[in-house]
Amino acid sequence: MAATLVKIRNLSKIYPTGEGGFLALSDLDLDISTGEFMGIVGPSGSGKTTLLNIIGTLDEQTGGDIEVLGKQVNTLSAKESAALRAEKIGFIFQTYNLLPVYNVYENVELPLLLLKMSKAKRKELVMQALEWVGLVDKMKSRPNQLSGGQGQRVSIARAMVKTPKLVLADEPTANLDTENSLHILDTMKKINKDTGTTFVFSTHDQKVVKYLNRVITLIDGKKAKDDLQTGI
Ligand SMILES: Nc1ncnc2c1ncn2[C@@H]1O[C@H](COP(=O)(O)OP(=O)(O)OP(=O)(O)O)[C@@H](O)[C@H]1O
Ligand SMILES: [Mg+2]
Repeated sequence: MAATLVKIRNLSKIYPTGEGGFLALSDLDLDISTGEFMGIVGPSGSGKTTLLNIIGTLDEQTGGDIEVLGKQVNTLSAKESAALRAEKIGFIFQTYNLLPVYNVYENVELPLLLLKMSKAKRKELVMQALEWVGLVDKMKSRPNQLSGGQGQRVSIARAMVKTPKLVLADEPTANLDTENSLHILDTMKKINKDTGTTFVFSTHDQKVVKYLNRVITLIDGKKAKDDLQTGI
């Protein structure tokens, strides 16, 4: 049995709004084991990004318990959760969040600057990640000089550059053509097999769904289905 990487019990999330709050997640139980290649699907607004943000310690639950990599997330200080993210979690944001003043190389290098690592080692890892996403030729470009899909690929390289224990990928192929999507999915699957890195996707993309070993369906913030499948 693989170790449990994420353990969620009776999780709820209420966003404060003018009218007393919006219930974005409720009654959610979920275990994710080390080495899974799984995804969360569901209609727009069903809570996928909310759930990834909470798993990634970027946001806090309103109720229930969540343990990530053996730590109760809501007991961590800001410094402790930042350290957990820096060392073990890679995040591909739906909105990319690239830093506009840095070029492609520097954006991908950023997570490595938080770790103790020589410049030569950083270069080796950044170049490898840029090769994974096919952007070596754009490494000197700034984010505003890239197409949407290229920006998305930079954010994928940035998330995977340190081969973290856990990659949280929020709609990572939303702006990619089929060829780039399949290339990146093949690369992610290879990293998953070679290193045991766990991948959790949020997606509307059937190309992604085909690769997954497990698909959770969220409807109105509740888990409606939890299906195992073979995956590519
Ligand atoms: N900061 C916020 N304040 C209030 N409501 C919010 C906030 N963030 C998200 N919501 C609401 O919570 C619900 C879940 O949002 P979430 O972004 O998790 O959906 P999603 O499943 O990722 O959707 P999509 O497929 O469009 O990305 C939505 O109805 C959204 O409007
Ligand atoms: Mg979303």
